Amino acid sequence: MTYLVTGGAGFIGANFVKYLLKKYNDIRIVVLDDLTYAGNLGTIKKDLEDSRIIFVKGNIKDAAVVNEIFEKYPVNYVINFAAESHVDRSIENPQIFLETNILGTQNLLDIAKKHWITGKDEKGYPAYKKGVKYLQVSTDEVYGSLGETGFFTEETPLDPRSPYSASKTGADLIVKAYGDTYKMPINITRCSNNYGPYHFPEKLIPLIIKNILEGKQLPVYGDGSNVRDWLYVEDHCKGIDMVVCGGRDGEVYNIGGHNEKKNIEIVRLTLSTIKNLLEENPEYRKALKKEGEDISWINESLITYVTDRLGHDQRYAIDPTKITEELGWYPETKFEEGIVKTIRWYLENQDWVEEVTSGDYQKYYQQMYGNR
Ligand code: NAD
Ligand code: DAU
Repeated sequence: MTYLVTGGAGFIGANFVKYLLKKYNDIRIVVLDDLTYAGNLGTIKKDLEDSRIIFVKGNIKDAAVVNEIFEKYPVNYVINFAAESHVDRSIENPQIFLETNILGTQNLLDIAKKHWITGKDEKGYPAYKKGVKYLQVSTDEVYGSLGETGFFTEETPLDPRSPYSASKTGADLIVKAYGDTYKMPINITRCSNNYGPYHFPEKLIPLIIKNILEGKQLPVYGDGSNVRDWLYVEDHCKGIDMVVCGGRDGEVYNIGGHNEKKNIEIVRLTLSTIKNLLEENPEYRKALKKEGEDISWINESLITYVTDRLGHDQRYAIDPTKITEELGWYPETKFEEGIVKTIRWYLENQDWVEEVTSGDYQKYYQQMYGNR
């Protein structure tokens, strides 16, 4: 099987590449990634030594690049992770979100369709090669924001509220249109907030870890009561793999593990977990950017409430019944274990953090958070 994994140098895409390499022997993975600020070759450096993987630097919007991949390799599955993924950046500069997330998706669909069509069926619809599929990696944010109760199901009306989620919704709709109009074999997965290794430190959990290690303030938007439904990234990868292999054509599958937490709880838990790990294992103190034996300054006084995100969605929560009942998916990593594993990974991989934040990150941080 040949997979085209777009965005495979980003957080979830890279974890998915590692997941595939571990699980399957007889595969080929073509990674297409434009290496934006969020993509880093270092994340998949070791994987690239494996002969099963080929890296192509390029934009998913570029028809020539995508076409060349399809001409060179017999692509069975397109898994589209490539996207502009950060809500705060979409508030500052929406346009690139529409370009990458919507037009890039449409370009991938178009070229895959062209290469996968074998003829026409009796009703005049395109007929496709056997064993091909386009999977769009989407998000629970397309459903909008919940109040205190209820869950997003696949039937929940789409109601995106940020430029990011509007662009992801636009992408979902064009994927659905290719399924409905051209009968292209597609699936859409909509997952809740991921956490784990290789998460870029502009997102809440890795940003908080980084700031603690640097002795900086921990910026909590608004009053910290917003709720996100956290899932360990490997469990998301497992869900995508199950949908690729067993999802019914044209269907949407929500992925989430019933793990709702207020942002302030996440920040407090990250603080206490880091402190425990540093106390348990003095080796980890090498990750601290502040000199000295005393770590009593690692406490809740670092928390700073800052101006709220514009249009900040209050609560996300996924109902995963469909993927559980149809495909047998369930989350394997409990949050209490996953968060410790994640923090340990950051303590042990400061080189990676330094590498990915050496570029335009400092400018972004200054613009978003000032001198804190
Ligand atoms: P990320 O920002 O870490 O990675 C995105 C990757 O896409 C990067 O490697 C980047 O270089 C690449 N990319 C961006 N624009 C590109 C373009 N035009 N052409 C080719 N490559 C391009 O994102 P992530 O957190 O790994 O998210 C991956 C996907 O999963 C996104 O589609 C996102 O919407 C979705 N998603 C993310 C989460 C989450 O919690 N992070 C949850 C649900 C869904
Ligand atoms: O729900 C899935 C989505 O999760 C994905 O589609 C997105 O690609 C992904 O970025 C993520 O979006 P969020 O906006 O939920 O993630 P983020 O880590 O940016 O923020 C999580 C919560 O923490 C949110 O309520 C805003 C808050 N926050 C975030 C940052 C960066 C803070 O309070 N302070 C911060 O500094």
